[in-house]
Amino acid sequence: MENKSIIGFIGAGNMAYALIKGLLDNGFDAECINISDPNEELLNERQSELKVRTFSNNMALLSSSDIIIFAVKPQKLSSVCLELKENVKSNHLFVSIVAGIKGSDINRWLGGSFSLVRTMPNTPALFQHGVTGLFANELVNNEQKILVTSILSSVGECFWVNDEKLIDAITAISGSGPAYFFLLIQSMSQAAMALGLDEKTANSLSIQTSYGASLMASKSGKDAKTLRAEVTSPNGTTQAAIESFQDQNFEGIVASATRAAYDRARELSNELGEIE
Ligand SMILES: NC(=O)c1ccc[n+]([C@@H]2O[C@H](COP(=O)([O-])OP(=O)(O)OC[C@H]3O[C@@H](n4cnc5c(N)ncnc54)[C@H](OP(=O)(O)O)[C@@H]3O)[C@@H](O)[C@H]2O)c1
Repeated sequence: MENKSIIGFIGAGNMAYALIKGLLDNGFDAECINISDPNEELLNERQSELKVRTFSNNMALLSSSDIIIFAVKPQKLSSVCLELKENVKSNHLFVSIVAGIKGSDINRWLGGSFSLVRTMPNTPALFQHGVTGLFANELVNNEQKILVTSILSSVGECFWVNDEKLIDAITAISGSGPAYFFLLIQSMSQAAMALGLDEKTANSLSIQTSYGASLMASKSGKDAKTLRAEVTSPNGTTQAAIESFQDQNFEGIVASATRAAYDRARELSNELGEIE
C-alpha cells in the first residue's frame, strides 16, 4: 500500500482498532498512524500493541496528520469538529466512519467546505471480513478516493455510491445486517435445542451452517436463489422448511425490517444534524 500520508484517527475504540489492525496487517507503516482519545489507559494499550503514535489532544493530532478519520460515537462528533474548526487546513482530507451524520453537517461544524468521505463499515471489520459503503463529496479527487479505498479495504470490501442517501440504505443492509444474521443464528440454536440437541452442539451447528452458506454464496459464482433451489429437493425436508418460512411471509418480514432500519437511519441523521 502507498504509505506517504499520515492518517490520524480521532477515537481509539473498536472500529479504529479494527481499521488500524487491518492497515498494519496490509503492510502500512505504524509510524504513519496517529490516534487520539481522552482515555489514557486505552491509548497506552493501543501504543504498546500497535506501536502507533498517540495523542491525548485532538488538535495536536490534526496538525500532525493529512487524513483525519472520525471514529467517535455519533453524539461526540459535533464537539470534536467544533474543537478542530480553527485549525483545519484546506488540504486535510476527512473520513467519517460515524453512523448517521451527514457530510454537510460535518463540514458545517468544521466551518467550511472540506474534502470529506462518509463511510458505513460493519463489525465483521474486526475480523477483516467487513463491508463498507462510501460516499465522497464533490471536493474529493480520484487520488483521494483511491487512498480511502486502500484504507477501508484493509478490513473488507468497499462499495462507492454516488448519492449520499444510499449510505442510509447501506446502513440498513450491511451496517445493521450482522445483527440480523445473529438473530437467525440465535433462533436456529433455540430451535435446535427444542429438537433435543444440547446447547453447544446447537450453537455450533447454527454458526457453522451460516458460515458455510455465506462461503458458498460468496465463492460458488451462483446466486442465492439458484443455490437454494439446488439444495431444495421436491417434497424434501428443506422444501418443508422454506414453505413454512414463506407461508409466514419471510421475504416481507425482511423487507419491512430493513425499511424500518432505513427510516430510523434517516431520522437519526436529521436529529443528530440539528446540533449547531
Ligand atoms: N462498531 C460498529 O459496528 C460500527 C459500524 C459502523 C460504524 N460505526 C461507527 O464507528 C464509530 C466508532 O464506533 P466504535 O464502536 O469504535 O466506538 P467506541 O469503541 O466507543 O470508540 C469511540 C472512542 O472515541 C473516544 N472518544 C470520545 N470522545 C472523544 C473525543 N472528544 N476525542 C477523541 N476520542 C473520543 C471514546 O472514549 P470514551 O469511551 O472515553 O468516550 C472511545 O474510546 C461510531 O460513530 C459508530 O457509529 C461503528
